[in-house]
Amino acid sequence: MFELDRFIAECRTAVSVDKTHKSVREIVARAVSEPTAVIAGLGGPTRAGVQRLYNSAELTILNVVWGPGMTIMPHNHLMWAVIGIYTGREDNIFWRRVPGEDGGRIEAAGAKSLGERDVEPLGRDIIHTVTNPLLRSTGAIHVYGGDFFAVSRSEWDPETLLERPYEMEKNLQLFERANARCA
Ligand SMILES: [Fe+2]
Repeated sequence: MFELDRFIAECRTAVSVDKTHKSVREIVARAVSEPTAVIAGLGGPTRAGVQRLYNSAELTILNVVWGPGMTIMPHNHLMWAVIGIYTGREDNIFWRRVPGEDGGRIEAAGAKSLGERDVEPLGRDIIHTVTNPLLRSTGAIHVYGGDFFAVSRSEWDPETLLERPYEMEKNLQLFERANARCA
C-alpha cells in the first residue's frame, strides 16, 4: 500500500540522516515495486504535469506525468535525483559538455530507458533529456536532494545544443502543450 504522507515522511527522515541519495533510492524502489498502489495513492496519470508533493530547501518530491510522445530539452539539476517509474516509460539521453568549446555545447554520452518499477539515481551534474516514447502517459516519482524550484541551473537549446539559463515556466508550459495536443 502506498501512503503519500508516509512516503514523504520517510524521504524527509532519510535526507535528515544521510544527505546522499542512497536511502531515498530504497524508499522510491519500494514504492514503485507496487505500481498499482502508487496509482491508487496518487490518482491515475490523466493530465501531463508536474505535481509538487513536497518541497523544502533539502528535498523536493514531484509526481511527474509525461504526455504521450513528449520530450523536454536537455537540462541539468545541480542536485542529486532519484527517478522511479510507476507506469509507462522514460527514455533518457545523457549528455556531456564538449571540452574546450564555447557556449557550453553538449554531445550525447549515453542513454537509458526506464520502465515500470525501474529506479534510477542521477548524479548532481548529470545533463539529460527525457522522452516518453509511448502513445499514453508515463508517470514517475522524482525526488531531488534540494529545492528543485529555487536553484538556478541550465538548459540547452535542443537544436544548437548550446547552454542557456533554465526557464522553469517555459518548461512547465511544455506539459500544458502536451495536454493541448491530446485534447
Ligand atoms: Fe531532469
